[in-house]
Amino acid sequence: MKVIKTISKLQKAAFKHLKNGDEIGLVPTMGALHQGHESLILKSKKNDDVTIVSIFVNPLQFGPNEDYLKYPRPIKKDLQFCKKNHVDYVFMPTVNEMFPNSHKTFVEVRDLQDIMCGKFRPAHFRGVATVVAKLLNISYACNTYFGMKDFQQLKIIEQMVRDLNFKTKIVSCPIVREKSGLAISSRNTYLSPQEKEMASKIHKILKKASIDFKNKNLSALKQTALNKLNKIPKIKIDYVDIVNFKDLSFADKNTKKVILAVAVWLGKTRLIDNIIMTR
Ligand code: PAF
Repeated sequence: MKVIKTISKLQKAAFKHLKNGDEIGLVPTMGALHQGHESLILKSKKNDDVTIVSIFVNPLQFGPNEDYLKYPRPIKKDLQFCKKNHVDYVFMPTVNEMFPNSHKTFVEVRDLQDIMCGKFRPAHFRGVATVVAKLLNISYACNTYFGMKDFQQLKIIEQMVRDLNFKTKIVSCPIVREKSGLAISSRNTYLSPQEKEMASKIHKILKKASIDFKNKNLSALKQTALNKLNKIPKIKIDYVDIVNFKDLSFADKNTKKVILAVAVWLGKTRLIDNIIMTR
């Protein structure tokens, strides 16, 4: 496994693989790697000749009062994790390498970036789209892997790849959950044991909604989920939304496949989760 810190070195190594006809897989991460990331790495190991994991806590996607400084950075553990999973390259650039003071270009995916999480984290998806665009150009990825927990992120990246004609294929992977049902996330480390127990109720509420999907109209379904979430002690709900699975557009009773997505705060931790519902 090679650890690379500069853009030029990764581009050089990746281009060599490309010329040899190798398929390159990219797993973009912010580190604090867990089983969710592992599922993406394993999928790339299965599909691709070369697997690159990028570890970069991207300052552009954090708001001024968010957790950029306290975001976990267990670098040694992350590198062991990548080694154990037979990753070929870990790309770990500095902030200055990715975004020097001279950087002036940003990628915006209009409309999709402004709804759901975008309403509460105004510059977040602009930061995500910009860094992912750069990572795609640096890695020459044929396949790029994203987890479905960040469903809005996934849809935004899919749109960006279509609009800007990136050559990569976006591969989405199912949410990985703890035994309790809690969606695995790097931010779960912020939760106290009690908060963790409360957080596990979120998935149960979503699951119940998906069972009721055939019999209830969407606004009743949303309201029931909201009422149940509100009963979790100390919860603060950012949103509960039901949108079209395909493109996050408005969903109604005729929409065959929808996504029920939530974002909540438990204490100082923001959690997101979702469930796919099909008629
Ligand atoms: O999902 C994440 O960890 C980040 O948003 C990503 C895609 C690595 C971009 O910084």
